[in-house]
Amino acid sequence: MKSPVHITVTGAAGNIGYALVFRIASGQMLGKDQPVILRLLEIPQSAAALSGIAMELEDCAFPLLQDIVLTDDLSVGFHDSNYAILVGAKPRTKDMQRSDLIADNAKIFAAQGRAINEHAARDIRVLVVGNPANSNALITAANAPNINRQHFTAMMRLDHNRAKTQVALKTRHPVADVKHMTVWGNHSSTQFPDLGHCLVGGTPAFDLVSRDWAEDYFIPAVQHRGTAIIEARGASSAASAANAAIDHMRDWVLGTKEDDWTSMAIPSDEGHYGVKEGLIFSYPVTCSNGQYHIVTGLEVDDDMQNKMNTTEQELSQERDIISDFLKLSN
Ligand code: NAD
Ligand code: LMR
Repeated sequence: MKSPVHITVTGAAGNIGYALVFRIASGQMLGKDQPVILRLLEIPQSAAALSGIAMELEDCAFPLLQDIVLTDDLSVGFHDSNYAILVGAKPRTKDMQRSDLIADNAKIFAAQGRAINEHAARDIRVLVVGNPANSNALITAANAPNINRQHFTAMMRLDHNRAKTQVALKTRHPVADVKHMTVWGNHSSTQFPDLGHCLVGGTPAFDLVSRDWAEDYFIPAVQHRGTAIIEARGASSAASAANAAIDHMRDWVLGTKEDDWTSMAIPSDEGHYGVKEGLIFSYPVTCSNGQYHIVTGLEVDDDMQNKMNTTEQELSQERDIISDFLKLSN
C-alpha cells in the first residue's frame, strides 16, 4: 500500500464540496491504491455543516480514507498538504459575471497562498475552482513564492467537458469519440472553445459540423453554460464542477490518455502561442508522470488568434484589478 497523501479541500461544506469529497475518499481522483487524509477547511459559520459531512464520510467506510481533519485554521488546513482544491469562495448569482466576484474572493486566495507557502508540502499541486478561477489562481501563486509556480492551476475542465458533449450531441457520436478539444483562455464568457483541431471518431470536427454551427451555437453555448445552469437551477453548477475537479487532478497526477489531451489553465510564463507572460491561461496539455506539457505546434489562423487575444485581454484587465493582491505584503 502507498503512504497516505494529504488533500486539502476548502469550502468543503458547500455545494461543490458535498459533491467532491466523497469521490476523493472513494479513490476516484488518485486511484484505488492511494490512501488519503482529507483536510477540510471551512469558515466558522459552516463548522456544523462540515461536521455533518465528516459523519457521512465516516458512514461510507471508505477503505482508502485514513483520517479527516476539520478546521477553520489555515495552518492546519494546509499542513503538509500534497494536493489542494480551492473551492471555498462566493458563487455568483443571476445577472453577475464571474469577474464581479473578484473583490469579495481575492482576499481569500491571498491568505490561502500565504498559508500554502508556509505549511504545505513543497511539491503541493493546487487546483483553483472558486471564481474568478484564473485570477484567483494567480493571486494564490503570487502569495506562495517558495512553491513552484507551475503547480498552481485553475479549472477549465468543466468547459472542456461541456464542449466535448456539445460536439458529441451534434454529431451523434459517443462523447468518448471526441478528442483533441481545446478551450483556450479564461474561465469566463470570453473563453474560446476551439474545434479547429478537434477529432470525432478520428475525423476532423469541421468535416462533420459547419463553421456557422460553431460560431452561432457551439461557442456561445459553451461560453454561457454556467449562466444557463444558474438560471435553471437557481444555483451554480456543483456536481459537474466537482466531476471536473476530479478529472483535472486525476489526469494531472495519473496522466492523460495516450491519444488525447485536455484543457488546463496554467501559468503562461513561457509565452506559448504568443500569450503574455504572467497570466493563468488555459491551454491544451498532455500530462505524464505528474507533469503537464503544453501541446505545441497547433496552427492558429487569424480568426483563432483574434479569439485568443480577446480572452487574453480580459485576463490582463483582471490582473490589473487584482494587482494589490499580487504583492507579497498583502
Ligand atoms: P457554495 O456557496 O455552495 O459553497 C462555498 C463554500 O465555501 C461555503 O461552504 C462557504 O462556507 C465556504 N467558504 C467561504 N469562504 C471560505 C474561506 N475563506 N475558506 C474556506 N471556505 C470558505 O458555493 P459552490 O457552489 O460550492 O461554489 C464555490 C465556488 O466555485 C464559487 O466561487 C463558484 O463560482 C465556483 N465555481 C467554479 C467553477 C469552475 O469551473 N471553475 C464551477 C462551478 C463553481
Ligand atoms: C460554471 O461555469 O458553471 C461556474 O463557473 C459557475 C458560474 O458562475 O458560471
